[in-house]
Amino acid sequence: MSSKPKVFVTRRIPEKGLEQILAATDAEVWPGELPPPYETIVEKVADCEGLVSLLTDRIDARLLDAAPRLKVVSNYAVGFNNIDIAAATARGVRVGNTPGVLTDATADMAFCLLIAAARRLVEGHDYGRSGKWKTWEPLGHLGADLVGRTLGIIGMGRIGYAMARRCRLGWDMQVLYHDVHVHAQAEAELSARKVDLDTLLGQADFVSVHTDLNDSTRGLFNLATFRKMKPTAVFVNTARGPIVVEADLIEALRTGVIFAAGLDVTDPEPPVEGSPLYGVPNLIVAPHIASATVGTRNAMADICARNLLAGLRGEALPAWVNPEATTHR
Ligand code: DGY
Repeated sequence: MSSKPKVFVTRRIPEKGLEQILAATDAEVWPGELPPPYETIVEKVADCEGLVSLLTDRIDARLLDAAPRLKVVSNYAVGFNNIDIAAATARGVRVGNTPGVLTDATADMAFCLLIAAARRLVEGHDYGRSGKWKTWEPLGHLGADLVGRTLGIIGMGRIGYAMARRCRLGWDMQVLYHDVHVHAQAEAELSARKVDLDTLLGQADFVSVHTDLNDSTRGLFNLATFRKMKPTAVFVNTARGPIVVEADLIEALRTGVIFAAGLDVTDPEPPVEGSPLYGVPNLIVAPHIASATVGTRNAMADICARNLLAGLRGEALPAWVNPEATTHR
């Protein structure tokens, strides 16, 4: 029998992290391209001290109760809405995430969606591909201008700030933000202004969502919210799908309540077969790829492994979601 701690890894992650995990633990790595079913994870963690989870894995009280030896859950994501943190804390299970290293890649994707939706890039690509491009059109494919316009950031954390920085320093945009906290650096360096939600919605030409998913942000963007935005506005969400009521977004886009939108996240993921999301010309949907660069995923794997190994040793996690869970098993 191995003296190394037993660990279950719910999917292959980049070697940069996996090698560390395989060297230091007795790890089983789920080989499938799709996530293991919930009941499989419950079975697998029964005798594990560590678990590496993905945002596609639901880690709840029942699963934690089925793992009496579990010390640490290391989530391969910065978001951790897939984990019941209170339940983990109550059971003394440490939870780690991967903040910081995906900030630039995610802000890049938010900006990519913003400019692609504003300039109708995917529509134009489809137009040419379907043989409709006959000539240069003086009145065709008109999109939105970016320079000097107003950006509204929902959730001025690390990623919101990185997005605001791009838009302010690169496109000379005015920055408004909505958050419970004041972001002193954004105010000092980017002249960002903290405003209430309605002010932001009424004034922003581009609204970009960077908040986490919680009880107050679930369904925050619905028809009523979209109606408060400019008819020329572009909406971007790279945070979590359930922040948006998708049927309402589709209606808002189809009826001209707003101009265009770009999503990197949907609800559910992937969208159901035949989802109307893919039938709206002024909507771009990316398959949750904001952190999908080689360097970023390697860095996420490294933090994920270091969180796991620190938790197994009973040490402070480098990126620790619930430091109050100090009474480890
Ligand atoms: C995260 O880390 O939460 C992203 O959604 C995926 O990288």
